[in-house]
Amino acid sequence: MDFKNKLLTKKKKVDEVLKQYFPPKTSLHKTIFESMSYSINAGGKRLRPILALEVCEMLGGKTEDVMPFACAIEMIHTYSLIHDDLPAMDDDDYRRGKPTNHRVYGEGIAVLAGDALLNLAFEIMLGKIISYDFGDNRGIRAAYEIAKAAGVNGMIGGQVVDLESEGKKVSKETLEFIHLHKTSALIEASVKAGAIIGGASKEEYKALEDYARSIGLAFQVVDDILDVIGNEEKLGKKVGSDMQKDKSTYPSLYGIEKSKEIAKNLITRSLEVLEVFDDRANFLRELSKYLAIREN
Ligand code: IPE
Ligand code: IPE
Ligand code: MG
Ligand code: MG
Ligand code: MG
Repeated sequence: MDFKNKLLTKKKKVDEVLKQYFPPKTSLHKTIFESMSYSINAGGKRLRPILALEVCEMLGGKTEDVMPFACAIEMIHTYSLIHDDLPAMDDDDYRRGKPTNHRVYGEGIAVLAGDALLNLAFEIMLGKIISYDFGDNRGIRAAYEIAKAAGVNGMIGGQVVDLESEGKKVSKETLEFIHLHKTSALIEASVKAGAIIGGASKEEYKALEDYARSIGLAFQVVDDILDVIGNEEKLGKKVGSDMQKDKSTYPSLYGIEKSKEIAKNLITRSLEVLEVFDDRANFLRELSKYLAIREN
């Protein structure tokens, strides 16, 4: 199967499983389920779960073992987007080609939908750990990496500095901190979770960690670039949002051309570290290259 088809097949698999977590409800509190499912099923590339699945499968692990962790990560990611779009944060109206969660359900429900997705993520991971004997503590270790990446020393920490850096000219180090934390941390955790569940050796784990950090940072640099030169329809979100909020971004600090070069170098680096793997890592190689040229 060629890369594009494999990517689509994996995405569809993730979409299907995610949908199963949100059956229609008629209970008194049904709005929260509708709101959560609205954002989860709005679309999205599913990059993080795809990474977790691929890494695990590449190492010989089973898809069904890693799937709950992959879905949990996508739920955490989606919660972060719902909150990121709130008026108190980036104040955006469009996401995944649709009105943002708070535009449809109101700010209160949007806050709760984000909270609920974060909780559900842990419920799903712990459910898997309770019901399935991994034979060692790999389920717990994967959940631990995901928890750390989503927390104050990961994604939330990055979002804090992102907010505090609006309207300022920050140093290169601060900007890198923001991007490594707000975005790369969860991408790294996706790869780590796949590696842990797949039973990576120390050497494989190290290489995959390095790979993930490179594509994780590159991913946010490209996100910043697309916010300037991207196509709104393809992106499914507003362009120019960063400039409007006077955000600290790679294009604002380095300019577009230099930012593109930085992203390209990170992608090259990610390919180099995969050399320890043979053809098994071909999908990850293609994925890296695709992330550099993505339009959404
Ligand atoms: C958007 O993430 C927010 C960032 C961390 C850059 P994605 O570009 O992965 O968004 P979806 O999941 O495809 O909508
Ligand atoms: C988002 O960064 C990072 C998180 C949601 C954690 P951005 O604010 O740049 O993401 P978009 O551009 O709104 O998707
Ligand atoms: Mg933001
Ligand atoms: Mg935003
Ligand atoms: Mg952005």
